Amino acid sequence: MRRKVTVVGGGFVGSTTAQRIHDSGLADVVLTDILDGVPAGKALDMAESAPILGTDAHAAGVSTAGGDYNETANSDVIVITAGFPRKPGMSRDDLLKANYDVIKAVVEAVVKLSPNAILIVVTNPLDAMAQAAFKISGFPKNRVLGMAGVLDSARMSAFVAAELNVSVENVHSFVLGGHGDDMVPLARYSTVAGIPLPELMSKEKLETIIARTRKGGAEIVNLLKTGSAYYAPSAAAVQMVEAILKDKKKILPCAVYLEGEYGIKGLFVGVPVKLGANGVEQIIEVKLSPEDKAALDKSAASVRELVNVLGV
Ligand code: 2OP
Repeated sequence: MRRKVTVVGGGFVGSTTAQRIHDSGLADVVLTDILDGVPAGKALDMAESAPILGTDAHAAGVSTAGGDYNETANSDVIVITAGFPRKPGMSRDDLLKANYDVIKAVVEAVVKLSPNAILIVVTNPLDAMAQAAFKISGFPKNRVLGMAGVLDSARMSAFVAAELNVSVENVHSFVLGGHGDDMVPLARYSTVAGIPLPELMSKEKLETIIARTRKGGAEIVNLLKTGSAYYAPSAAAVQMVEAILKDKKKILPCAVYLEGEYGIKGLFVGVPVKLGANGVEQIIEVKLSPEDKAALDKSAASVRELVNVLGV
């Protein structure tokens, strides 16, 4: 049976996500945007690359300016990237209210047509937008998650691999918490070929990598000047989509609704989860040192502030 993924938002993150899914043949893709013509043009361009790439996945693009989301009906997974991107000097949290309105309109429209879909939220501020999508959709908590931990962990792994001059395949990084400046990269659980990072590099080097990971998004925003990262964010979203569509039972750090896990209740925060056909199939709890627990609580408190402002 063909699988169907809708990507809402035809900007760089959305279109790159759609392209990765289409090119790999993972699923048929519907790309939507409120702009006229742009999603259709990008989808047609993708479809015309199919004979070269040898993919039989279909690509369609629709403008939702008039509120018509019919093309997205019966999607297995819906990746929501729509929203305003960060500009230099702007924090993810500045985006809060503007992007809440976007999420509300999108979620209300798509869930009616795809009542069994799994929602992956990419729009910032990530954890608060995932919580908004969860509340607005009325979906069970296993079917709404946010993409951030995979991206933040990938950034940390890239920095570790470069520092130690080892294959990225050997590096596993472990980043918890909200997708903000107080995210919690856990050195002890981050490894190279199974060896914990603190055994492989000095404390100073490790601190530098952790600081760079926390500011990974801003580093790219400052370089690009107009817009934010999209190669790594889209790769991260697609890894989550793949884990779900292939029922991989893959352990990935994702923003999910916690109900007492890690001592956090009623809040979306990034933690390791098992991703499979049912979405979030298990929340994995690991032992945290008192300092790490305090850092996670601080990160969760930042998310809570935003969620309280939105009242979701
Ligand atoms: C990032 O971290 C923009 O949140 C996005 O690149």
